[in-house]
Amino acid sequence: MNSSKVLRIAVIGGDGTGPEVAAEGLKVLKAVAEVEGFQYETEDFDYGGERYLRTGEVLPEGAIDQLRSFDAIYLGAVGHPDVAPGILEKGLLLELRFQLDQYINLRPVKLFPGVETPLANRGPDDIDFVVVRENTEDLYCGVGGFLKKNTADEVATQTAIFTRKGCERCIRWAFEYTQRRNSPKKMLTLVAKTNVLTYGHDLWWRTFQEVAADYPDVKTDYNHVDACCMWMVKNPEYYDVIVTTNMFGDIITDLGGIIQGGMGVAAGGNINPDPGGTSMFEPMGGSAPKYTGKNVINPIAAINAMAMLLENAGHTSAADRITRAVMHVTGTKMKSMAAGKMGYSTTEVGDLVVDALTLPE
Ligand code: IPM
Ligand code: MN
Repeated sequence: MNSSKVLRIAVIGGDGTGPEVAAEGLKVLKAVAEVEGFQYETEDFDYGGERYLRTGEVLPEGAIDQLRSFDAIYLGAVGHPDVAPGILEKGLLLELRFQLDQYINLRPVKLFPGVETPLANRGPDDIDFVVVRENTEDLYCGVGGFLKKNTADEVATQTAIFTRKGCERCIRWAFEYTQRRNSPKKMLTLVAKTNVLTYGHDLWWRTFQEVAADYPDVKTDYNHVDACCMWMVKNPEYYDVIVTTNMFGDIITDLGGIIQGGMGVAAGGNINPDPGGTSMFEPMGGSAPKYTGKNVINPIAAINAMAMLLENAGHTSAADRITRAVMHVTGTKMKSMAAGKMGYSTTEVGDLVVDALTLPE
């Protein structure tokens, strides 16, 4: 991206602690834009549980097209205790992923200095890989239905959809990402279940082999998803980049999230890499209703999501600057990543990151 262009960001603070953590990400954005000298503007959208309870609709008419006109979306959290599970997830998060064709779900699994991992005797050198999860197909399509509902003979189907186009664009992006990441391993692991899912994952397997031929410098590798769960715990240092299907990706990225220190640090991107595509970045922690308004929630994940947003928008040096600052704060300041135990309030952690932006490299 041309750095003289104004970066336009739609901000959806969302529910619970979402707006609090998003505010810290925006504070860091303001500071880093001054240091790095780029222009941006933000516009707030009040989508989420409160609005749904007030109006009965999750996204109003025209919302998608409006959001599409932005360069990126920055999301705090969705999830409201008074809204039945699934409504906001489907109506907002999944709706945006599908409608904006954000076909990559990018989930870095990186243990920052000073952050505790539940894996014994492991440190930042051991846990540093990235999961590229397909984000528009599989069981998430919502294809299925009931027969004889609420009878003893009830049948329910839920169909996983895989398309050649859908898996190829994701796999290709993952190869290119692995090339760009250029780690000494330079290895892309396909995670699937080809021994059981002999149609859908056969398609993934064949596509992976074909696409691999275009990237001879990237080492290829395959794990069944169940074995991958074991390896992520036993030998996380093995991985460089993982590419996987939507449903398996959902599951292994929570495992990834916990080994990198939990929901206080894990961030993700829903990326439409096509020209003019609008991508969305979010901390992985939920709306944490019980901590709402207490200024105790950890904003590091939201700040990491902002770094991902900037990286994706081409502001690489700003993104790197934020990541260095976060590593300084987790490594030398914060006592814990858990809400209320950080040794600082939410806003103080944001201030610490801002202060660390200008430390010498
Ligand atoms: C995630 C979340 C979502 C998903 C939920 C909230 C619908 O768990 O982003 O990983 O399943 O994709
Ligand atoms: Mn998930």
